[in-house]
Amino acid sequence: MNIAVLGAQWGDEGKGKIVDLLTPHFSIVARYQGGHNAGHTVYVGGAKFVLRLMPSGILHPGTTCVIGNGVVVDPAALFGEIDQLQALGVEVDGRLVVSNRAHLILPYHRELDVLSEARRGQRRIGTTSRGIGPAYEDKIGRRGIRVGDLGDPSSAAALEDAVRENVETRNRLIGDSHLDWRQVLDELREHWRRMGPWVQDVSLYLARARAAGQSVLYEGAQGTLLDIDHGTYPYVTSSNGTIGGVCTGLGVPARAIDGVLGVMKAYITRVGDGPLPTELTDATGERLRQLGNEFGAVTGRPRRCGWFDAVVARHAARINGLDAIALTKLDVLDGFTEIPVCVGYRLGDTVITEFPGELGALSACVPVFDILPGWARPTAGVRRFEDLPGEAHRYLAHVEQVVGVPVGIVSTGADRDDTIVRPASPVAAWIGAR
Ligand code: IMP
Repeated sequence: MNIAVLGAQWGDEGKGKIVDLLTPHFSIVARYQGGHNAGHTVYVGGAKFVLRLMPSGILHPGTTCVIGNGVVVDPAALFGEIDQLQALGVEVDGRLVVSNRAHLILPYHRELDVLSEARRGQRRIGTTSRGIGPAYEDKIGRRGIRVGDLGDPSSAAALEDAVRENVETRNRLIGDSHLDWRQVLDELREHWRRMGPWVQDVSLYLARARAAGQSVLYEGAQGTLLDIDHGTYPYVTSSNGTIGGVCTGLGVPARAIDGVLGVMKAYITRVGDGPLPTELTDATGERLRQLGNEFGAVTGRPRRCGWFDAVVARHAARINGLDAIALTKLDVLDGFTEIPVCVGYRLGDTVITEFPGELGALSACVPVFDILPGWARPTAGVRRFEDLPGEAHRYLAHVEQVVGVPVGIVSTGADRDDTIVRPASPVAAWIGAR
């Protein structure tokens, strides 16, 4: 089975933990979009790892990790992460494949990201300032530099031209300092010396692996509502974290995706600007933030928090064709006497139940809630479905009913073991669990 695990909200849903949990059942974990704007946090035996560019499968020896053509790669960030992993005893060499078609994030992309945000002023996106947007702009503008260009002797002259033109454009745009294109080129050649052995045609690599009976987990970054096409544009990231990104970002056919798992928190968060219909700006929101430790893994920014939004979840279920939900951080709801679940939006005189595509309409939406009872007995650390309190069962059943997708995994704590895979769910079938 080849399974996609992707975010069904605004990112930070806990994908890292879920991918880490499922990895032992797969030969390969492949990232298909985004870059080091992602922060996938995994706790193993109490130790915390934050993976940014490296697929979350890297913590399992024997798993091969793939960075697809849809990812934008900052070589310095990649090497920094690999050095950190190696210092912790995680061997990376021989287990990493990087697409020759992946685009590079160059030093000036970070500067352009910061500049573009400053120019937008009040309308800023709230990016992670990692150069992600400008790198994708260069890709779509057909002036990007790809990983494979660095190692191809027959492209040397074209590479030199591209670096010179891009750096000259940067110098015109930024103005207050002059970057030397020769220095940028030298750095790129230096990067190739380390990166070269990992670089391959990822589509071909994955096709051969599948033909040899190996299974692939496709790992999404960010979330459906941050998707460039299906998210809250323009308050989104610059790639497709939704299911289509698997095909375009790795060069795999749609029929090579056998199942789709959507990761959602039992409430909702967002970091950065843009609409969040169920946002709580009061003490309850602060309580969720503190209990859920909702501070950005990459930037440390406080995350905005709100109640679970089934309108968002249904939007994600439809676009991605979700077979199952992994519901994370259920334990954060421990101690609340009432748990609202948003089931529609009041917009003027009507109640709508589908997520609007227009930012103006979305900003005017007021959530309509079903109110469920909280639970007195904590769910934190519960590892068997039947041991959850009755009200938590009721909450999960309600989520399934209003979203229309079964909950296959429930996460009740940060540790790998604080997780319930529901028997008889699609997830149990994928991994052969009983
Ligand atoms: P960018 O991806 O850095 O361009 O940022 C665009 C938007 O996506 C901002 O609102 C970021 O906060 C958000 N974003 C990017 N990556 C992540 C992530 O991994 N988790 C949550 N939000 C993210």
